[in-house]
Amino acid sequence: MESFKNKGIKEIIADFPEIGNILEEYDIGCGPCTVGICQLKDILDIHAMEPDKEQELMARIEAAIYPERGIQIPVKTAQASISEDQLLYSPPMQRLVDEHVLIKRWLALIPFVVETLDLTTAEGMQIVRDGVDLIRFYADRFHHEKEEGILFKYFDDTTEIFQVIYEDHRQARNHVKEMLTAIETEDKSSLAHHFTGYSSLLAEHIKKEDEILFPWLDRKLTADQAQELTYKFDLADMQIGIDIEKYRLFLEQLEEQVRERT
Ligand SMILES: [Fe+2]
Ligand SMILES: [Fe+2]
Repeated sequence: MESFKNKGIKEIIADFPEIGNILEEYDIGCGPCTVGICQLKDILDIHAMEPDKEQELMARIEAAIYPERGIQIPVKTAQASISEDQLLYSPPMQRLVDEHVLIKRWLALIPFVVETLDLTTAEGMQIVRDGVDLIRFYADRFHHEKEEGILFKYFDDTTEIFQVIYEDHRQARNHVKEMLTAIETEDKSSLAHHFTGYSSLLAEHIKKEDEILFPWLDRKLTADQAQELTYKFDLADMQIGIDIEKYRLFLEQLEEQVRERT
């Protein structure tokens, strides 16, 4: 089994597809991951499971790889899924999680925006422009740049998990590029396609950060580093000087429109 710990998880799942399903049961979504270059040992480190749960998972993986060995699976002792209220973050990490909340409010509105998309009226165009503005300046410049430019620099960001995160950010920026082209050419279906693609990408991305990456990074950060991060985040926010109220107002107005419709 030790040799399997150093094997790429995508390769293991390709050879033993049921392992993808087993990992899903433990909220480890390696199957749908677009990069998938993590090794099994990285997954165990990143997810920091309770020892008995990790033992149970490893026994199930071993049983899937070597069915002839008659591996005994330990009896389940705890719920497999992560409960959000179990997660406690350091102050700078909590700040990034809080920023996700505003982004998630926008993601929740995207189906409504796509359904009512109207590029022929000033009001319809304004919603689209404000939504893209939120993605470019709040989600990307204000939020992703703090992650990439400050937080990730405290770690070896050449490792696999960071590559997954960078790839998500790159895909998100690509969606924005396509959204801007679609606005210019008044291509409604392309705009709807990229809004929807962005929404599902970012929903998964935020889940990865909130539930896996940030708790893992928090376990590695010292108290001094956490304090320094807060200071650097303050400085970065001041330099960007973004008007967060403008985005809150935009979201409130759209949420009101959704309420009126239902
Ligand atoms: Fe991110
Ligand atoms: Fe984030």
